[in-house]
Amino acid sequence: MSKILITSALPYINGVPHLGHMVGCLLPSDVYARYMRMMGNEVLYIAGTDEHGTTSEVGALNEGMDVQAYCDMYHQRHAQTYQDFKLSFDYFGRTSSEQNKEITYHIFEQLDKNGYIEEKTIKQIYSVDDKMFLADRYITGTCPHCGYEKARGDQCENCTKVLEPTDLINARSTISGSTNLEVRETKHLFLNLPKIQERLGDWLKTKEPFWPDVAYTIAQKWLKEGLQERCITRDLKWGFPVNKPGYEDKVVSVWFDAPIGYIGITKQWADENPSERNWKDWWMGAKDVRYVEFMGKDNVPYHSITFPATLLGTGEDWTMVDYLKGMSYLTFEGGKFSKSEKRGVFAEDAIKEFPVDYWRYWLMSNAPEASDSSFTFDLFASVVNKDLNGVLGNFVSRVLKMTSSKIGSEVPAGGNDTETEEALVKVLQERVNDYFKYMDEMEFRKALNELRAIWVEGNNYISTTEPWTVIKTEPERAAAILRTCINLIRIFAILSAPIMPDTAEKMLDKLGLKADDMPSLKGFSVKEEIQALKPGHKFEVGDMLFERITPERIEELKVKYGSDKK
Ligand code: MF3
Ligand code: ZN
Repeated sequence: MSKILITSALPYINGVPHLGHMVGCLLPSDVYARYMRMMGNEVLYIAGTDEHGTTSEVGALNEGMDVQAYCDMYHQRHAQTYQDFKLSFDYFGRTSSEQNKEITYHIFEQLDKNGYIEEKTIKQIYSVDDKMFLADRYITGTCPHCGYEKARGDQCENCTKVLEPTDLINARSTISGSTNLEVRETKHLFLNLPKIQERLGDWLKTKEPFWPDVAYTIAQKWLKEGLQERCITRDLKWGFPVNKPGYEDKVVSVWFDAPIGYIGITKQWADENPSERNWKDWWMGAKDVRYVEFMGKDNVPYHSITFPATLLGTGEDWTMVDYLKGMSYLTFEGGKFSKSEKRGVFAEDAIKEFPVDYWRYWLMSNAPEASDSSFTFDLFASVVNKDLNGVLGNFVSRVLKMTSSKIGSEVPAGGNDTETEEALVKVLQERVNDYFKYMDEMEFRKALNELRAIWVEGNNYISTTEPWTVIKTEPERAAAILRTCINLIRIFAILSAPIMPDTAEKMLDKLGLKADDMPSLKGFSVKEEIQALKPGHKFEVGDMLFERITPERIEELKVKYGSDKK
């Protein structure tokens, strides 16, 4: 048994998640966590809301709320949505917690003590009309490198160059559009990344054979271009006040305390049950922990460069990322999700339309991995109708109905296995091994292809053995075939559980089994598992697992969610 620490990038508290957020890090991390637990590992799966910074201040302002109350409300909303999506976090915490403050302060003090924090007077943009210093991302202007007119003060999304807001030409406030901006001098603290660069490069080299190409290439590119000092304080109210004399009226930058949030949230988890849990077992000198991070590709630089550099600079033995899974983007019918323009499916609405597993399955089988992918209702319906309803659902209901009506509602006795069953076991074992291999590698689309192929083998088996015909002449043989099929239902349930936990439970329920009865996936032997349910074991036919989505419904949904708005 190994210890596996899994984190998902912490979603910004402002706003509610859409399908792109779900598949961009949260859902894949959950599938991986469930799979790793089923493999018999000790998993700690951590996430939470990323709460500090101007985005929250502006969000609260727009809704006429106090920032704390605003964050409390949205934290609940996020937590509820993720619970509805069956995300199996061990703890869903907050970057604004006392625990995170404590750890952020500690890390800051270590960095300061080791000479990695520098004081600088900088020129910053103050918006006279908004009465505030504008965070980098709240300034819009023309990119000095490529001429893109809507570049943000922290990064140009057109040419991806990292910017300082003062680099922008024709800068204006993103909040009010005001160009009444003044450059004011203020003192700030900087993390001296150039000073850590060499150690970071050495550390990165140890990861090369293990990291996915995308992540490694992005990190290398940053190192090659040379790291810049990074400002870690802000002139805001909402955040952790800087714990250094002379800086009390400023706060720690959201980008400094957000990834530290993984640790702070682990401490929240541990504090709930201190006699049994210790956050340091996972984060400090924890040689036995493998740490896997999930995030959208835009977050890769911070997780491969800034956060590791922060941890290295402390001189302490922190757990650092072993594998970093960066996801691409999901678009909505080829365009952007937008709450204000009522375009796209948001997670809260999704679960009102269909059971959560329809979404989990679709999203994971179309996950934007190597490249971006697009959600369309046509594709969604076709996958639900073909894969879920047509292949899996149909197999389950066919087998149980046939057995129940022809023989009785229990696993039939009699008959022997033949070469056909031997061959089935062989193919299935190969496919199961591939399925596990892809899950281990976090190649989710490939993994889901295998899972579907496993269900298809079940359908092929029943179509070639034709128990409905055989039963007329060789009832014993038909009994053996249907016994195999019922056992296949159990196997399909177990294998599908990391992706569709509710459906797996429903399938097991038909067989009078509970989720806790599932065997470990480690060393999963099809040969043994296909004999697990013995003659006489009772089952219930029950309801269909899935419902078809009709063409009329598809058209309705397209209108409701703005599929045709571009
Ligand atoms: N809130 C950021 C986003 O949604 C992600 C922060 S990841 C963290 O893009 F590690 F910094 F928390
Ligand atoms: Zn540019």
